[in-house]
Amino acid sequence: MRIRRCSIVFVEPRETLSFDLNSLLQGGNGLHSERQWLALAPHLDAEVEIDADQRELLGAIGAHEWRPAETASEPAPQAFAALLHAGLLIGDDEAHAGHRERDEAVRAAHWWPPAALAHRLARWQGMDSAAAMDENELTTAAEIRRRLGAPPPHAIERAPADARLPLPRLPDGEFEALLARRATCRNFDAGRALPYASFARMLQRVFAAQSQVRISDDTVFLKKHTPSGGGLHATEAYLIVQNVEGVAPGLYHYHPVEHALEPLPAPATPLAEFAAQAVAGQHWFADAHAMAVLTPRYERSFWKYRRHAKAYRALLLDSGHLSQTLYLSATELGLGAFVTSAINEIDIERGFGLDPLAEGPLAVCGFGWRGERMRTSEFDPAGAVWPRD
Ligand SMILES: Cc1cc2nc3c(=O)[nH]c(=O)nc-3n(C[C@H](O)[C@H](O)[C@H](O)COP(=O)(O)O)c2cc1C
Repeated sequence: MRIRRCSIVFVEPRETLSFDLNSLLQGGNGLHSERQWLALAPHLDAEVEIDADQRELLGAIGAHEWRPAETASEPAPQAFAALLHAGLLIGDDEAHAGHRERDEAVRAAHWWPPAALAHRLARWQGMDSAAAMDENELTTAAEIRRRLGAPPPHAIERAPADARLPLPRLPDGEFEALLARRATCRNFDAGRALPYASFARMLQRVFAAQSQVRISDDTVFLKKHTPSGGGLHATEAYLIVQNVEGVAPGLYHYHPVEHALEPLPAPATPLAEFAAQAVAGQHWFADAHAMAVLTPRYERSFWKYRRHAKAYRALLLDSGHLSQTLYLSATELGLGAFVTSAINEIDIERGFGLDPLAEGPLAVCGFGWRGERMRTSEFDPAGAVWPRD
């Protein structure tokens, strides 16, 4: 067997503090500190605790050249065996095919290493963020203020008042009126299906290719209504359709060139449960008529931006832009819209059959009819959406 190190690994000296009664009784500060070395690697599902020998060996074995296992294991055979078992060292034989395939996926996508790690580690599974907010009394703005103190100021001044150059406030036009009516919808009307035409129009506006440039048969650039880093439009829309006339509830992939739905297998859990799980238990979004999981194909972006420090950031921005187009498109049609980054990525990936390092979700948007009653509060201080009595 030949071996090499996995392509990306970071080593963290971590300190965990816990309450220690004995320390307090003996006149100490009441805290117990535990320190450990952890190896964090994006191709693995969990972090790996390592000892000093393993840490040294990781640094001594290269990630590019394959070398005979015997020569690599010689200085510290136990450490070698542990690293190989954990998947931090990769073997070229059948027994290590699982870790090798995951590592090859990381290599193939040209991830910038810190971004790969941040992306992989930030994913949630089975998180109920609504319940967590309730438990921690962090639901209303007043509660948050009480528990966390005052935030940094809402606006800052970088010049004395008499040095300010006041700008004219111009009268609002139709576009301003549209912008003013945009408010995150947390009250969908599950009793009223979304018309097929509104659904189709939303997808056409937000995710469809409007035209294209064909450089060669294998190299095509799409033009859409939203800007995209490098013009690559790497972000896919995976749909959770719950309540649209003429569309069977289920999971779909949207084809941006054909402007068509591609039906996907049903998730393992009932659709409503899967939708609630996707938005991490935020029941105020869970019954949206249609949701779009914004999912970059990292390889397409990193084809151009190889191991590039800004590429992942550009993809985050792309998702933000898409969500704003979706908000405004929905608002213009008289619909409500939302975006959330509080999502259970791992549950979504399983439901849609996605590999997180190749095609992993960043956010979920949704749209549909707004209900007539406000059960969950929306941010509408000017009464642009919810007329005041
Ligand atoms: C990136 C992003 C993530 C958001 N995540 C959540 C969320 O998890 N839950 C939620 O209720 N609203 C979420 N929102 C909506 C914001 O709370 C909302 O935009 C903000 O309160 C201002 O209200 P407005 O959109 O109605 O102007 C998110 C908005 C953005 C841009």
